[in-house]
Amino acid sequence: MGLTYFYRDLSTLKLVVDKTIQHYNDSGSINIWDAGCSRGAEPYTLAIILREKLGKTAFGNVKIHATDLDPTGEFESIISNGIYPAEEIQRVPVDIQKKYFEDQGSTYLICDEIKESITFKRHNLLTLKPIKTGFNLVLCKNVLLHFNASQRRDVLTMFHESLLDKGLFAIEQTQSIPSLLAHLFMKITAQTQIFQKK
Ligand SMILES: C[S@@+](CC[C@H](N)C(=O)[O-])C[C@H]1O[C@@H](n2cnc3c(N)ncnc32)[C@H](O)[C@@H]1O
Repeated sequence: MGLTYFYRDLSTLKLVVDKTIQHYNDSGSINIWDAGCSRGAEPYTLAIILREKLGKTAFGNVKIHATDLDPTGEFESIISNGIYPAEEIQRVPVDIQKKYFEDQGSTYLICDEIKESITFKRHNLLTLKPIKTGFNLVLCKNVLLHFNASQRRDVLTMFHESLLDKGLFAIEQTQSIPSLLAHLFMKITAQTQIFQKK
């Protein structure tokens, strides 16, 4: 199981949410693919940031499609139950904990509004078949490092195909777009690896 916790790399997630909201521009649903979402901390963090920025009504248009190889077959029930141990949410500010989580003692339960924005599907990125197309944002953090250079190029090309025109793509700081694929993505932020589909 990958290392994961709520509010990991918060500055990148906040920035990518800001850029996605600018790109979305009130045109229907905001469709996000969180590829390699592990146990759900990352898609739930994204959902909370989006709910805080958009408010209740516009947040109703957010659909986060979370996927993972899910080697143990446990992620679907963890994510749909939305119950996490206190250690995984310790970086979440107390006011946000109070707003979106029910304190159950040693565990915390995420509220229905946030849970309903997320669907989980078991999916192997190396099949090179996107779960669907038309995404405003694809996020794939701390996953590509598991692949060789050729697999990385193939998976990045699949992400490009899954995005809407000018859709956004984000990876972790230590990854980059290989030069062979420079024609597919344009970097749009200086300090983070956030790209726009060319
Ligand atoms: C370190 S976790 C990253 C979790 C989250 N994205 C983050 O950055 O906090 C890496 C995840 O990649 C998933 N993964 C590895 N190979 C994969 C593949 N071929 N297809 C889909 N997911 C994969 C693992 O199951 C694991 O949950």
